[in-house]
Amino acid sequence: MRMVDLIQHKRDGGRLTREQLYFIVQGFTRGDIPDYQMSAFAMAVFFRGMDEEEIADLTMAMASSGDVVSLAAIRGTKVDKHSTGGVGDKTSLIVVPLVAAAGVPVAKMSGRGLGHTGGTVDKLESIRGFRIELPNDQFVRNVNENKMALVGQSGNLAPADKKLYALRDVTATVNSIPLIASSIMSKKIASGADAIVLDVKVGSGAFMKSLEEARELASTMVSIGKSLKRRTIAVLSDMNEPLGTEVGNALEVAEAIETLRGGGDARLRDICLTLAAYMAIAGGAYPDFAAARQGLEELLGAGRALETFRKFVEAQGGDPAIVDDPALLPQAAYRLAVRAEHEGFVQAIDAEAVGVAAMLLGAGRAKKEDAIDYAVGVSLRKKVGDRVSFGETIAVLHSNRENNRDITERLLAAYTIGSDQPEPVPVVYDVVE
Ligand code: URA
Repeated sequence: MRMVDLIQHKRDGGRLTREQLYFIVQGFTRGDIPDYQMSAFAMAVFFRGMDEEEIADLTMAMASSGDVVSLAAIRGTKVDKHSTGGVGDKTSLIVVPLVAAAGVPVAKMSGRGLGHTGGTVDKLESIRGFRIELPNDQFVRNVNENKMALVGQSGNLAPADKKLYALRDVTATVNSIPLIASSIMSKKIASGADAIVLDVKVGSGAFMKSLEEARELASTMVSIGKSLKRRTIAVLSDMNEPLGTEVGNALEVAEAIETLRGGGDARLRDICLTLAAYMAIAGGAYPDFAAARQGLEELLGAGRALETFRKFVEAQGGDPAIVDDPALLPQAAYRLAVRAEHEGFVQAIDAEAVGVAAMLLGAGRAKKEDAIDYAVGVSLRKKVGDRVSFGETIAVLHSNRENNRDITERLLAAYTIGSDQPEPVPVVYDVVE
C-alpha cells in the first residue's frame, strides 16, 4: 500500500477501507508517514468528506493508536461527558458530582485549556493541594468509593489524534466534521467510556457557529457511537455569550460551588441539569428525562452533589475547606469595575473576546508551555437581556497587573448595548440521540 495512492483516491472522491485507514493512522503515529502526506490527506478529507463507516474506522484507528484505558474494575455503566469547548464552561465541575450523587460512576479524564477556552484540569488545579494525576488503582478506588474521580488525560491517549490535530491547526483543516468528530470520539473511546454525553456548543464563542453545522457534528458523533456500540447522546447548547458569570480558573470553581449549593446563574444550572439528566439515564439511574430532571434537582437541593464534590476534592488531596469558604481560593490583588459607556439593554457579549481578555490577564495560555495565574479572570455582572444604565458596572476584572486599560477596552468592545431588549435565546437548542 502506498500513502500517495490513498491520498489520490480520497482526493478524487473515493472511499477508504478499514485496512487503508489503519495503515494511514498507524504509519503516521510511528512516523513512517511524513507530515506533508498526512496534511494532504487531511485536506482531501476536508474537501471530499467521509461516509459513516469510514469515520467510525478512522475513530477506532486513532483510539487504538496509544493507551486504551480499561475501566472494567469499576462497577456499573461508566458514563463520560465531553464539551466541544467554550468560554466560562465549568459544567463538568457541576455535572460530574451531580451524576455521581445519583449513583452513576464517572471516571473522567479531562484536558487543559488552550487559547480562549478554559480546561477543567486547570480549574481544579486552582484548589490548593489538588492532584490531577492519580495512580490507576487509586483512580479506580475513588470511583468505586465516591462514584467520581477526575484526572488529566494521559500523554499517550490517542497519540495519532494529538499529532493530527497539531497538523490540522496549521494546515487550515480543523473545521472538517469527519475530522472533528473522529478526533473527539477517539479520545472518549480510548478513555474507556461505556456511554458518552456530548455538549456540542453553538455560537460566536464555539467552533460551530451555526445550528446546522452543530447538528451535523452532533449526528456524526452519535452515529460513530452507534457503530462502536457506545450509547451516545448529544445536547446542542448555546455559546453566543459566556456560560454563567465567571471566566477564570478559581472564579469558575467558586461559581460551580455556588451552583452545587443550589444557587447561581439560571442558564448554567439549566444546561448542567440537562447534561446530568442524560448521563444519569445512560447510567441507568432514571427511566426518562422528566424523572431524571426531578431526581437531580432534589439531589442538588439536598446538598448531595455538593457533598460528593467535597469528598472528591479531599480524595484528590485538595483543601475541602474551599467548599464552605470559596474565598480561600486564590484571589487577585486588584478588582476593577468596567463601567457601561451607554445605557440600554445588553444585546450581545462576544464570548471569544471575553475568553481572550481573561487569557491576557493570565487565566489561560496562548502557548502550551505558558503558566497560568489561577486567581485572575472576569466576572460578568450583566448578561444578555439585562438593562444597564450609564456608568453602571457591567463586569469586574480580577487582575494581578497594575495597568488594565487594554483589557478594559476589550471588555467594553465585547459588549453590544442597544435600545431594544433582545429575545431570550434558549440555553439548550436540541438533543440528538
Ligand atoms: N476538539 C477536539 O478534541 N478535536 C477537534 O478536532 C476539535 C475540537
